[in-house]
Amino acid sequence: MMKILLIGKNGQVGWELQRALSTLGEVVAVDYFDTQLCGDLTNPEGIAETIRIVHPDVVVNAAAHTAVDKAESEQALSGLINAESVAVIAKETANISALLIHYSTDYVFDGQGSHYRDEEEQTGPLNVYGETKLAGEEAIRKLNNRHFIFRTSWVYATRGANFAKTMLKLARERETLSIINDQFGAPTGAELLADCTAHAIRFEKQDKSNYGVYHLVASGETTWFDYANYIFDVARENGESLVIDSVTGVPTSSYPTPAQRPNNSRLCNRKFQQTFDVILPDWKEGVRRVVIEVLGK
Ligand SMILES: NC(=O)c1ccc[n+]([C@@H]2O[C@H](COP(=O)([O-])OP(=O)(O)OC[C@H]3O[C@@H](n4cnc5c(N)ncnc54)[C@H](OP(=O)(O)O)[C@@H]3O)[C@@H](O)[C@H]2O)c1
Repeated sequence: MMKILLIGKNGQVGWELQRALSTLGEVVAVDYFDTQLCGDLTNPEGIAETIRIVHPDVVVNAAAHTAVDKAESEQALSGLINAESVAVIAKETANISALLIHYSTDYVFDGQGSHYRDEEEQTGPLNVYGETKLAGEEAIRKLNNRHFIFRTSWVYATRGANFAKTMLKLARERETLSIINDQFGAPTGAELLADCTAHAIRFEKQDKSNYGVYHLVASGETTWFDYANYIFDVARENGESLVIDSVTGVPTSSYPTPAQRPNNSRLCNRKFQQTFDVILPDWKEGVRRVVIEVLGK
């Protein structure tokens, strides 16, 4: 039976992976506060030991330092979690010839232009989070050829903190909101990411010729402004009475944050769809489901 080590079991994606990976084999799932096996990416030697003890066929790393603004002042911590420990995971998985699956981000790009970026396009992160995630990618490429790196964007889930849930909360409390309307991307559900990950692991059992980086995002595009309005529409259609009355679109410049963010986060998901023979649905499908679930409708 296949043995899978899941690191970061309680994040948005990690939580869904616990479900999705369970049909593949034995899943050993860890988090940073576990005491039996080390799942703490601030402790690279501990993580290495965990991999040596578990001796898995596959490691899925869903843990990361994802606090984009905090990373600007926590550069060393962000680098340790997103790059240095990832390098250790890559080295240890290579030692036992295990498949490594890791997630990266649209923030490895500079966000210029208005096109959909493919996997080969030049990277150029604008912030510390993007830099450290890119360093993690590079370490994997160097140290373990048997890998899939899935770059995704704008992740949401019923569990955890995310834009969709924040908007629902604010729409119940406030009459007016200003939301950025000049950043473009695709909200991508943790459920979709987890299901596609399980699919890729199954696929890899038959076909070992497709290692590398993939853009794994829902199809289509939106802005944070249109995304928020869609969430409010779905909520109202499902009988939720919201306080929100007026939503104004504003440019990024009117909402300064410690970390600079890319304006164009559009990622081309064609390579993933063609390689793994799946359809990645429009972003609205998953968002609709999650809004209804969060509302308990
Ligand atoms: N969220 C997004 O919008 C987004 C966009 C693009 C790419 N991604 C990538 O997608 C992957 C999954 O992200 P996600 O959305 O599931 O993020 P998430 O919900 O923030 O999950 C990350 C998990 O890592 C945990 N973690 C933090 N420090 C750790 C440490 N030292 N050791 C072990 N675990 C630690 C976090 O715990 P705490 O919550 O307790 O800190 C959290 O459970 C990540 O690689 C992320 O970079 C995410």
